[in-house]
Amino acid sequence: MKDLLLEEFRARFGRTPSVIARAPGRIEFIGNHTDYNGGTVLGASIDRDVWVGVAPRDDGQWRLATAAKDGVVTLPAGSGPARQSGEGSWVNYPLGVIAAFPEFGLRPPAGFDFLAVSDLPVGAGLSSSAALELASALAFLASSGQAAPRETVVRLCRHAENNFVGVPCGILDQGVSGFGQRNHLVFIDCRGPVFATVPLPAEARFWIFNTQTKHALVDGLYAVRHRECMEAAARLGVPVLADVTPTALGAAEAKLPPMVFRRSKHVVEEIARVDATVAALCTGDLAAVGRLLTASHRSSQHLFENSTPELDFLVDRLTAAPQVHGARLTGGGFGGAVMALTTAEFGDAQAAAVVAAYAGRFGHRPEVLHAQTGDGAAMAD
Ligand code: GLA
Repeated sequence: MKDLLLEEFRARFGRTPSVIARAPGRIEFIGNHTDYNGGTVLGASIDRDVWVGVAPRDDGQWRLATAAKDGVVTLPAGSGPARQSGEGSWVNYPLGVIAAFPEFGLRPPAGFDFLAVSDLPVGAGLSSSAALELASALAFLASSGQAAPRETVVRLCRHAENNFVGVPCGILDQGVSGFGQRNHLVFIDCRGPVFATVPLPAEARFWIFNTQTKHALVDGLYAVRHRECMEAAARLGVPVLADVTPTALGAAEAKLPPMVFRRSKHVVEEIARVDATVAALCTGDLAAVGRLLTASHRSSQHLFENSTPELDFLVDRLTAAPQVHGARLTGGGFGGAVMALTTAEFGDAQAAAVVAAYAGRFGHRPEVLHAQTGDGAAMAD
C-alpha cells in the first residue's frame, strides 16, 4: 500500500509526501451499541488500512485527494474549515480532524498536499471513516511538528465524527483503530474511556461477509437508536444505560414503553455479554465465545432491531456450519457486514457455499474478506 500511496501522490502532486501514517479498520467483536451508553465493548483492528501521505505547502492552500476519486479538493488553509457536500464530502473526515485540533490545544496544520489510499472496503461496517480520521490526525500532527498522547488522538477523532461529520457515534471505532494490536482484541470501558487489550487465542479465525447493502436511512436510524437509549436512561433516572443491571431493568419494565424497553434490554444484556466474553477468552473457550457472539446477533435482530434479512440470512447459514463458533452483525447495523469467528478448518470452500446460498436468495454476491487482526494506527517509516 505504501508504494501505491507514493505513486499516486507523485501522480496527483508531482512530489513525495514528507510524512506517511496508516490506521486500520476494525471489527466490532461484541458490544453492539454499548459504547455511547457508557458500557464496555470488544473490537479487533484488522490488517486492512487507510494510508495518508502529507507534504507541507507554503501558499496557504489545503489540497486533498483520494485514490478512490478523481480530482483534488482545494481549500484555503485556516482554523475554521467549512463542511463540504457532494462529491468532495469525503474530505469532511480530515477537515473534521483539523477543526478539532484547537479544541484539544493543538495548532491546525498550515498549507499541505494530502492523499489517502486504502485497502479497506468502504460502507462495510469496518470503520473506514475512523481509519481515515486516525491516519489524518497522525499525519497532520507529524507534519506540523506536534505530538499528542494516543488517547487524545482517539478522542479528537471521535470529536470530529460527532461534531463535524455529524454522527453521534461512541468511542469504539476510533478507540480500536488507535489502540489495536495484532493477535489481540481491544477492550474499552467507554465510561472513562479506559483502553486495554485481551489476547486472542491463536486458533481464532475471522471471516467477514459484506452484504454491500446499506439502509438508505442508515445514519438517521443510528441517531434514532441513540435517542431511544438516551430516553430510556432518562426515564430510568440514570445518566447512561450502563448504570442499570439486567435485573434492575427487569424490575423497572413498567416505567418504559415496550419498544424503549426492548432497546434497553439489548444494551444492558449486551454489556453483560461483553464481560462474559472476556471471561471465556481468558480460559480460551472459543465455543463459549461463539455462543455469546450469536446471542448478540439475535438480540440485535429481535430487541434492538438493527439487523436486516440479509444479515440474518448470513448468520443463519454461518452458524449452521460446524467450523463456525458464532456469527453476528458487526458495527451499527441496518446493512453492512457479518463477522464469523471460526476454526482454522473454515476455508474458501465453506465461504463459497455461503456466498452461493446468499446469491441464490438475494440475487447478488456478498464480498468476502478473510481478514486477520493487525496493529493499530502508526506512522509509516
Ligand atoms: C458504529 C459506531 C460505533 C458503535 C457501533 C455500534 O460503528 O460508530 O461508535 O456505536 O456503531 O456498536
